[in-house]
Amino acid sequence: MSLPELIRDPAAWQRRCIASRDAGTRIALVPTMGYLHEGHLSLMHEARRRADEGGRPGLALATIFVNPAQFGPGEDLARYPRDLEGDLAKCGRAGIDIVLAPDDPSAIYPEGFQTWVDVEQVSKGLCGDRRPGHFRGVATVVAKLFGLSRPHVALFGDKDWQQFQVLRRMAADLDMGVEVVGMPIIREPDGLAMSSRNAYLSAEERQRAVAISRALGDAQRRAGQGERDPGRLASAVREAIEAAGLRIDYVDLAHPETLRAVERAVPGTRLLVAAFLGRTRLIDNVALP
Ligand code: PAF
Repeated sequence: MSLPELIRDPAAWQRRCIASRDAGTRIALVPTMGYLHEGHLSLMHEARRRADEGGRPGLALATIFVNPAQFGPGEDLARYPRDLEGDLAKCGRAGIDIVLAPDDPSAIYPEGFQTWVDVEQVSKGLCGDRRPGHFRGVATVVAKLFGLSRPHVALFGDKDWQQFQVLRRMAADLDMGVEVVGMPIIREPDGLAMSSRNAYLSAEERQRAVAISRALGDAQRRAGQGERDPGRLASAVREAIEAAGLRIDYVDLAHPETLRAVERAVPGTRLLVAAFLGRTRLIDNVALP
């Protein structure tokens, strides 16, 4: 296994990416905040495949940057888990060629920085309401990473469904020329969606966390049997998760792209959940049949 090349300086990274793109190289990008798990690695394998799609080797890139702009006051920025050495080894095994890992936030947000990307509608509701400013921070950093990396395609996990829709909208609205691709959620054997934040859970919390994916699976079955009422589906999910001792942040059924509330749970409607286990906030979602 070979380690990917590590670049710390965004300007050096950008020079490298522009030169590669000008030479006709296809570029696939996986932006991350590190502490990588199987979900990230599935994005990286897909990036490798898509970079090489043109019939000659492309560049599969990953970025590792814990973006302060997407954390609100009192959130987990300071304790967000980090492991650059371990992450580089994982990137190498997943076929990533080069990793950008700026060593200080000021490399991305230098003195005088004042331009922000606000995706107005899709950022509303769900996590957008519970975490004010979160998607502004996400959209801004991803816009910068696109500008620095000049990718043809960028890959994101469906676990952050609202984030994926925000970024798709941003890339389309701002004519960024990047194909924004969502990849299926990777789950633990018991169904818990993989997340870097699962590392915060105690052994006992980890066992209770499975209530979220179980409740979503039950709702999918009920919808498959003909239940179309969003209120009844959401209540059942809420009750099942609360019964396991979690605190609900939201349970909502929404249109998969606009994320507006739906009156009927038609096929493709997205059922999205955020819930707290102690101080840890977990999110998950499924498409209804
Ligand atoms: O999904 C994440 O890890 C982050 O929100 C992202 C897209 C890397 C932006 O910081």
